[in-house]
Amino acid sequence: MSIPIEEPSDEEYKIVKDFLQPKSTIFAKLLKVQDEVRRAGSVTSGALVWKSPKADEYFKNQKARAVQIVSEEQRANFFNMMTKIGDYFQEKEKLIPPPSKRMNFDVLDLCMAPGGYNRFAQVCAISLPTGEGGLEIHLPNWQENHRLKVKLLNLTMLSAELGFPTLASQDHPSTSKFSNHIPYAGRQFDLVFCDGHVLPTNEPEEDSTSEIRRLADAQMVMALQRIKSAGTIVVLLHQVYNPRVLRLLKVFDNISQINLFKPPFCHAKRTSFYLVAKNVDPLHEVARRLVRDMRNSWRVRTANAFGLEIPGDPIELNDGEEKMEDIMQSFGGRLITLAEPVWKIQTEAMEKAFLGAKN
Ligand SMILES: C[S@@+](CC[C@H](N)C(=O)[O-])C[C@H]1O[C@@H](n2cnc3c(N)ncnc32)[C@H](O)[C@@H]1O
Repeated sequence: MSIPIEEPSDEEYKIVKDFLQPKSTIFAKLLKVQDEVRRAGSVTSGALVWKSPKADEYFKNQKARAVQIVSEEQRANFFNMMTKIGDYFQEKEKLIPPPSKRMNFDVLDLCMAPGGYNRFAQVCAISLPTGEGGLEIHLPNWQENHRLKVKLLNLTMLSAELGFPTLASQDHPSTSKFSNHIPYAGRQFDLVFCDGHVLPTNEPEEDSTSEIRRLADAQMVMALQRIKSAGTIVVLLHQVYNPRVLRLLKVFDNISQINLFKPPFCHAKRTSFYLVAKNVDPLHEVARRLVRDMRNSWRVRTANAFGLEIPGDPIELNDGEEKMEDIMQSFGGRLITLAEPVWKIQTEAMEKAFLGAKN
């Protein structure tokens, strides 16, 4: 059970859709609505356009807002939204125990700013420096808060943490961008949040697929290396039916108890959703293999992004990769049960926002 480095092929998407469509009317409806709304390559300019003008306007505005969460009001709004999501998690998933049982409960938030989730526990966190495009931490006096430890770091450049301390040779011009610091070394956590998101302000690679994957890989490696046995990992993912995401869900289904989670008031129209994996067994063979795959993926993508040489073979890549047909046969039914609530929220929200439905 391994996760390939390459992006999924059209053929893999087709296998997934062909399996799910006849078995889930909710999924079939999502595809129909997405098709009515979605962007497609414009015949004349090649640029991506949305068929629905409302969707076009919505996503353009969102991108513009994301580029400049600059005013106090915008920052406060974003913080309030993250706080609302954190509260909703707490209400539905009870991620953090009640105060009487919270004494030794430790949280690691891998991409912490603005800091909306972490008001009720001891938190160790990482946050991208604002000078590199990271968001500001919005918690008042966070530097003095004894409950909170924050390290300002770029997760995607932690080469020792990610298993390749000498990836950039001493004389390479990019060497100084990498760090061999191992944050929170030796610490294990009860709950790890991985909801990092490459912002259009991130330096230097911006929102390229490669940067998105480097961040996702780095978070996954670090989460599995720091989670306590039987702890909980929360991961922000996009598009349940993306074959790569689906492989990841199958892995987590093997090593933990999973639930998919989409707050109806936020993320609703978008493909994003959260994986909540409880009772994680980080020592399971499948978990170790996932760490190895994600490390390799980070190494190959990082080497490509910075023009680094990888000595020797890119070891054991993609060996034992399960065919998508087999994954659908063994996991497709379970996926439908897990994903239908998420698909339903997304479909209804898209219909209402972009196609004028009145539900
Ligand atoms: C959706 S926000 C996280 C919200 C947060 N967990 C909370 O409780 O409010 C996404 C975060 O990912 C961070 N991020 C993006 N790229 C990063 C990187 N390379 N290293 C560390 N953090 C990064 C952004 O700066 C931003 O703070």
